[in-house]
Amino acid sequence: MIKRKGIILAGGTGSRLYPITKATSKQLIPVYDKPMIYYPLSTLMLAGIRDILIITNPLDNQKFIELLGNGSQFGINIKYKIQSKPEGIAQAFLIAEDFIENSSVTLILGDNLFHGDLLVNRLQKNYLLDEGASIFAYSVFDPERYGVVEFDSKGVAYNIEEKPKNPKSKFAITGLYFYDNTVVEKAKKINLSDRGELEITDLNKMYMNEGKLIVEIMNRGMTWLDTGTIDSLHEASSYIRSLEKRQGLKIGCPEEVAWRMGFICDEQLYFLSTKHIKSGYGEYLQTILNESKDYFGIQGTKI
Ligand code: DAU
Repeated sequence: MIKRKGIILAGGTGSRLYPITKATSKQLIPVYDKPMIYYPLSTLMLAGIRDILIITNPLDNQKFIELLGNGSQFGINIKYKIQSKPEGIAQAFLIAEDFIENSSVTLILGDNLFHGDLLVNRLQKNYLLDEGASIFAYSVFDPERYGVVEFDSKGVAYNIEEKPKNPKSKFAITGLYFYDNTVVEKAKKINLSDRGELEITDLNKMYMNEGKLIVEIMNRGMTWLDTGTIDSLHEASSYIRSLEKRQGLKIGCPEEVAWRMGFICDEQLYFLSTKHIKSGYGEYLQTILNESKDYFGIQGTKI
C-alpha cells in the first residue's frame, strides 16, 4: 500500500467573515470551544494520517505553528508552508509537491467540519485508495454556494459544476478529497478560471474524465458543516455545543483522537491535560482517561 499524507488548506482572506477575520485567519477563530482547525486536523487523524502539511497565509503562519507545533504532542508530524496569495484550492498541490513526494494525498479545507457515526469507516476505507480519486457529496438546500455534482440513474457521477447559478442537483461536493499520486501532475495542467483561481472542480473533472473519480454520498446520518458565512459559523458552534453538552464527549479534539487511535499513550494524554486545566478542556481529557476504555471498545475503533 502506498503511504498517504494529508494537507489542511488554511489560507485565504476570510473576507466573508470580516471584521472577525480582519486581523486573524478564519481557521484560528473558535467553533464553540476550540480553534476551527482542530476539526479538520482531527478528521485527518481519524483517517489514520500522521504526516500533515498545513498551508497558511503569510501573516498567520507563525500563529499556526504556535498552536500546533510539530505535532509530536499528538504523535503525528506537522509541517507548514505558505500560500502567498489565495489563487485557488488546487494550488495546494503545487505548494505541497515536495511534501507529497511519492505518496497518495488527502486534502481537507481548514473550514470544513465533519461528524457522524460512519465517518471513521469511510475515512479509513478511503485511506487505502492507491489509484484514482474519491470525494464526498452531501445534500444541501443551497447548492449554488458549492461545487455541484450530477449523478446518472446508476448513481455514477457524470458532471460537476463550480457554484452554478442554476444547480442541476442538490448534492454539494464537500471539502475533503482523497487523491492518488498523479494529483500534482494534474494540478500543473489546470488553467486559471474566470475568477483567477486554480479550481478544485477542474482537478476533480480530470479524474472524472479518466473514469477514476468516485463520488460517494454522505447520507443524512453524517454531518458536514462549513463555516463560510457568519450564520453558518454560528450554526456550527451551536451544533458542536449541543452535542458536546448532551453526550459529555468532545467533537474534533485532537488530543482525544490521538489517544484513541493509539498515536499517544495514557501518560502523554495526561501530560497534555495538565496544560489546559483552567478552561475545562484538560479536565475533559482527564475524565476520558479515567473512564474505562472498554466502554468505548478497543482503542481506535469507536470515536
Ligand atoms: O466547502 C466546500 C466547497 O469548497 C466546494 O464545494 C467547492 O467546490 C470549492 O470550490 C470550495 O468552495 P468555497 O467557495 O467554499 O471555497 P473558498 O474560496 O471559501 O475556500 C475554502 C477554504 O479554503 C477557505 O477556508 C479558504 C481556503 N483557501 C481557499 C482558496 C481559494 C485557501 O487557503 N487558499 C485559496 O487559494
